[in-house]
Amino acid sequence: MADSLEDLKARVRALKADFEAALGPAGDATGLQSVRDRFLGRKAGAVTALLKSLGGLADDARREAGRELNELKDDLEAKLEAAKTSLEAKAGALRLERESLDVTLPGRVPARGRRHPLVSTREALEDVFLSMGYEVYDGPEVEDDFHCFEALNMPPDHPARDMQDTFYVDVPGPSDLLLRTHTSSGQIRYMLENAHPPEVRIICPGKVYRRDNDITHSPMFQQIEGLVVGRGISVSDLKGTIEAFLHRLFGEKYPVRFRCSYFPYTEPSVEADLSCIVCDGKGCRVCKQTGWIEILGSGMVDPAVFEKVNEHLGRVVYDPEEVTGFAFGLGIDRVAMIRHGIDDIRLFYGGDLRFLEQFRG
Ligand code: DAH
Repeated sequence: MADSLEDLKARVRALKADFEAALGPAGDATGLQSVRDRFLGRKAGAVTALLKSLGGLADDARREAGRELNELKDDLEAKLEAAKTSLEAKAGALRLERESLDVTLPGRVPARGRRHPLVSTREALEDVFLSMGYEVYDGPEVEDDFHCFEALNMPPDHPARDMQDTFYVDVPGPSDLLLRTHTSSGQIRYMLENAHPPEVRIICPGKVYRRDNDITHSPMFQQIEGLVVGRGISVSDLKGTIEAFLHRLFGEKYPVRFRCSYFPYTEPSVEADLSCIVCDGKGCRVCKQTGWIEILGSGMVDPAVFEKVNEHLGRVVYDPEEVTGFAFGLGIDRVAMIRHGIDDIRLFYGGDLRFLEQFRG
């Protein structure tokens, strides 16, 4: 209870001082709200408490005191409002400073990808054959024994299978699934799927798998198979095609030579060598002092392969009396190694950017 006007005025002064002391440290909206609740709250605020204490004063004094307290209220309201405005201005300035953007700074240039050397080599090879009218055929990597070996004239006990140490796929169902060891299986698939007319001119690029791993062999590598079938296709077509493609790829100045070889699916079989592009045929480490680099295997399609295809089709489509053909197979990795002078095939598959960034591709 205020005993007198004087007493009330003293209490108002004390309250003002308390208010100033509380307002000073209030640093945000929540702080301001609690100062407001404490002093101007309707039920428990300090000003309300003072108002309630006027009961004991005489009428005149009460009126005067009422005016005094209303002024006090207005004063506190105004100070709270001013504090709020100043806090907001400060926060705004801070935000502006934090979010400021220097548009004159240079931008961040995103890293640009580039062709992997095996991709650009495959594309260069495909371009050569596409320009000669070949079609690109894509065969599956998971194959079966028939397409990978049997139809290519390699029955189960054939020793040529030993040259291609095979990964077999162990799944319920067909028991002869494997990862193709060469793209030659693409020859068989294409002939079975395109049984009319017996004219073929395809390349079949893709991944192949063998249980091999050293600096010139990777368990997964890539090949391009070629197959041409038609009436009157001869060894000279084979030689001319391979010579033309090697000249397009490496340049005309490197001679190509053919050596007799053996593959179960071609007869006769040949291997093609390119005069060493590193030493110009003089003999070096890359060509193992021979002056020649082995590039591919090829030959005239063995009639036994046509017969296997016909047998599978249940009718004679590729009649060995009517059509002949040639086939070839080469390693894309090997060609890329020769083109770029790389001596470890594993670099292609290591994903090391220091290696890959050297290719403009
Ligand atoms: N398939 C053989 C290999 O992987 C390459 C090959 C040789 C393919 C002679 C052919 C060919 O089509 O006629 O080593």
